[in-house]
Formats: sequence, C-alpha cells, structure tokens
Amino acid sequence: MQCPPIPLVRIGLIGLGQRGMQTLQRYAFVKGAEIRCLADLEQERLDAGNDALQESGRPPARPFIGKEAWREVCRQQDIDLIYICTDWNSHAEIAIEAMNCGKHVAVEVPAATTIEECRALVKTAEQTRRHCFMTENCCYDWFALATQTLHAKGYFGTITHCEGAYIHDWRELFSAENDAARTWYRSSCLHGGNPYPTHGIGPIAQLLGIHRKDRFKHLVSVTGQAAGKNSLLGHTNTSLITTESGITVLLQFDGTTPRPYSRIQGICGTQGFAQKYPLLHLQHEGKLHEGAEAEIFLQKYLKGHAAELWLEGRSKGVPNEMNYAMDCRLIYCLQKGLPLDIDVYDAAEWSCLSELTRLSAQQGGALVEFPDFLNLSVEADKNSDMT
Ligand SMILES: NC(=O)c1ccc[n+]([C@@H]2O[C@H](COP(=O)([O-])OP(=O)(O)OC[C@H]3O[C@@H](n4cnc5c(N)ncnc54)[C@H](O)[C@@H]3O)[C@@H](O)[C@H]2O)c1
Repeated sequence: MQCPPIPLVRIGLIGLGQRGMQTLQRYAFVKGAEIRCLADLEQERLDAGNDALQESGRPPARPFIGKEAWREVCRQQDIDLIYICTDWNSHAEIAIEAMNCGKHVAVEVPAATTIEECRALVKTAEQTRRHCFMTENCCYDWFALATQTLHAKGYFGTITHCEGAYIHDWRELFSAENDAARTWYRSSCLHGGNPYPTHGIGPIAQLLGIHRKDRFKHLVSVTGQAAGKNSLLGHTNTSLITTESGITVLLQFDGTTPRPYSRIQGICGTQGFAQKYPLLHLQHEGKLHEGAEAEIFLQKYLKGHAAELWLEGRSKGVPNEMNYAMDCRLIYCLQKGLPLDIDVYDAAEWSCLSELTRLSAQQGGALVEFPDFLNLSVEADKNSDMT
C-alpha cells in the first residue's frame, strides 16, 4: 500500500518505559522525523522524555498524562504517526484508534496478542488505508539482510526448513524489586504458548515471502511444564509451522532458563545452509565457513537500501545498527510515499502466533490452522457457511 509522501513525519510517542525512552533517544539520529507529543501514565517519565529531547537539541514535545491520554494524542492535527511502546496488551486498541483517527501506526512487538485483535488490525488498516508497521527490528539485523541477498541469488537452492527463536534469560525482570509497571512481563511465563514470537519468525517470514509467494498453513506447539504448571520458570515453548509449499519452521520461546541468548536464525536449503546462533555457520558446495570467516563472507552480501542504512549506522557509531536501519527505513518510506517493509498482514501473521501456539499447546500439540489474513471476508463467508 502506498500513501501520499509526508515531508516531515510528526510523531506522537505513546509509552515511555524502557523501549519508549530508547526509541525517543534513537530518533535523535533519524532525519525527517520530529517527536511532537508524548504520552505516559507517569509525570516522571514524561519529564525524562522531554529532558532527553532537550539534551539532544530537539524541541520539547507536548506531554499527555493518564491511562486514556493517548486518545487525545491520536486526535492531534499535527501528528502523522502514532508510535506505540506500551505493554503488548494495549497495542491493538491504540493502533486501531490511531488508524481510525487517520494516523499511520508504528507498533512495538507483538502488534497484538489475540487472533481477533490481529483480524481487527487488518480490517482497520484496509478500511482506513493507513499503514500499520510493526517495529520488528530483527528483520534489520545484518544476518537477516545478508541472507535475503544470498537467497535472491539462489545460494540456498530450494529452502526446505528454517529455525528461529527468542531465547533470552528474562528471570531478573520477574524479581519483586523490579519496576512494578513491568509486571506484565511476568504474566508471559504463564501464557501457555509463545507470547513473544515475532523476533524469531519475522526474518524467516520475510525470507520465505510469506503472503507474497507462500503462506503459513498450520502449526503444532508444545510447552514444557516440568517445573510445575503454575511455576514462573521453565515454560519452554516449541512450535513447528508448515507452509503451504511444504517448508517447515521450528520456532522456540524460552525466557526463564539460564540459556545463552539466541534467535537461532537457521536456514536449510537443498544447496546451502546458514545459521547465526550460537556460532555463525555458512555451508555451500561442500565448503564450511564458521565464525569470523563466515561474517566476512556474509558482509559482502549486505546490499539494498536497508543494508546500506545498517552500514551507515555502523560508520556513525550509533548504539544499535539494526534499530537505526529500521527507524531510518520507516521514515524514508513514509517520506517518499513507498510501501513499508513490514505491512499489517505481516504484523497479523507473526503476532497471531501468540494465540495459535497457546491453543495448540493447551490441546497437547493439536494441529491448528492459520487464519488467512489476506482474505478475511472470504474466511468469514466460509465460516458462516459451516455454521
Ligand atoms: N523490539 C525490541 O527489541 C523490544 C525490546 C524491548 C521491548 N519491546 C516491546 O516494547 C514494548 C514496551 O516494553 P518495555 O520494556 O518498554 O515496557 P515498560 O513496561 O518498561 O514500558 C511501558 C510503558 O508504557 C506506559 N504505559 C502503559 N499503559 C499506558 C497507557 N495507557 N498510556 C500511556 N502509557 C502507558 C507505562 O507507564 C510504561 O512507561 C513491549 O511491547 C515490548 O514487547 C521490544
């Protein structure tokens, strides 16, 4: 979807917790965008946000305080983009209201927590013709960008299987001393499926051209409960997705064991193999490249605009190149009136895993079908025929 170009993208930023503050700080490096409004529950966070804007030489933003204050931000005339960094339970409601107010949306991951919310995001974006960009920064990781180029050149042959994950020891987030506002992370342990699927699945879905040349068809998912059903620890969730063309994707979530950080990012094809974690591997025509050697090989394939932005971020010494590439690319596309790299169908297909994995795991690993977000009206007709 293309929309008229926006010369200066004026942002209303909702939620100034850890990620919201980082976003506010990152935008000091992004040309063509200005943060005009801030919303949070706490005055302290709004003040910290304006202090950070001032420190980086940017004009102050209008602060809005309170649980419903974001609604007012959505109604401000001088805002083009509502950037949502609240906890994930509130993402869909804010995004839908923002689009209904005529604003484009950038929403943190996951964009929604239920299938119904995903459907509502798609319907609203289609009706209002507003962008709903999910800020899945891992799609701008250098390995993801380089393997896209390799795949376009046929390096992997036919892709047969991929693996992705979010394995990150979050246990300290659950401690009692931790910020009370962030207790929502804790509830993710008792989710029953994979509450945080998009970092693992995003780069794989883009590589496979999901909803462009293939689609996720169904999955089975299992969650371990060896530490006890109501324990906050050890609920590792493992899912196996099958696409319409028969590719399998293994996806894992583990936030509560002392495993080293990993998103796996494994790509298996008939002619080649690449994997990012735990050690970089690349195999093609009988040759194996590992570690630093694989990195040097892969960096040669950092081609295209997003990759150029990643390299620009590295040369400028920005704190995190993949976030820089994501932010700059989003604003560039809005300024030029181009389609965005991640559209509302991506946001829905990747986020709906949260509920699909839970539904499957609750039934001991039952097969569950993905909704067809590209054809929601056809899907609704089919369901009404069946009842
Ligand atoms: N892409 C990434 O790498 C990445 C990293 C960290 C977090 N995240 C995502 O970012 C989001 C926020 O995470 P976080 O760690 O910053 O959480 P957080 O709890 O630190 O921050 C949430 C903020 O939202 C505010 N808030 C809550 N409800 C609000 C409302 N109705 N109106 C205005 N403000 C409200 C809270 O006061 C708080 O300041 C989550 O969805 C998380 O998944 C993404």
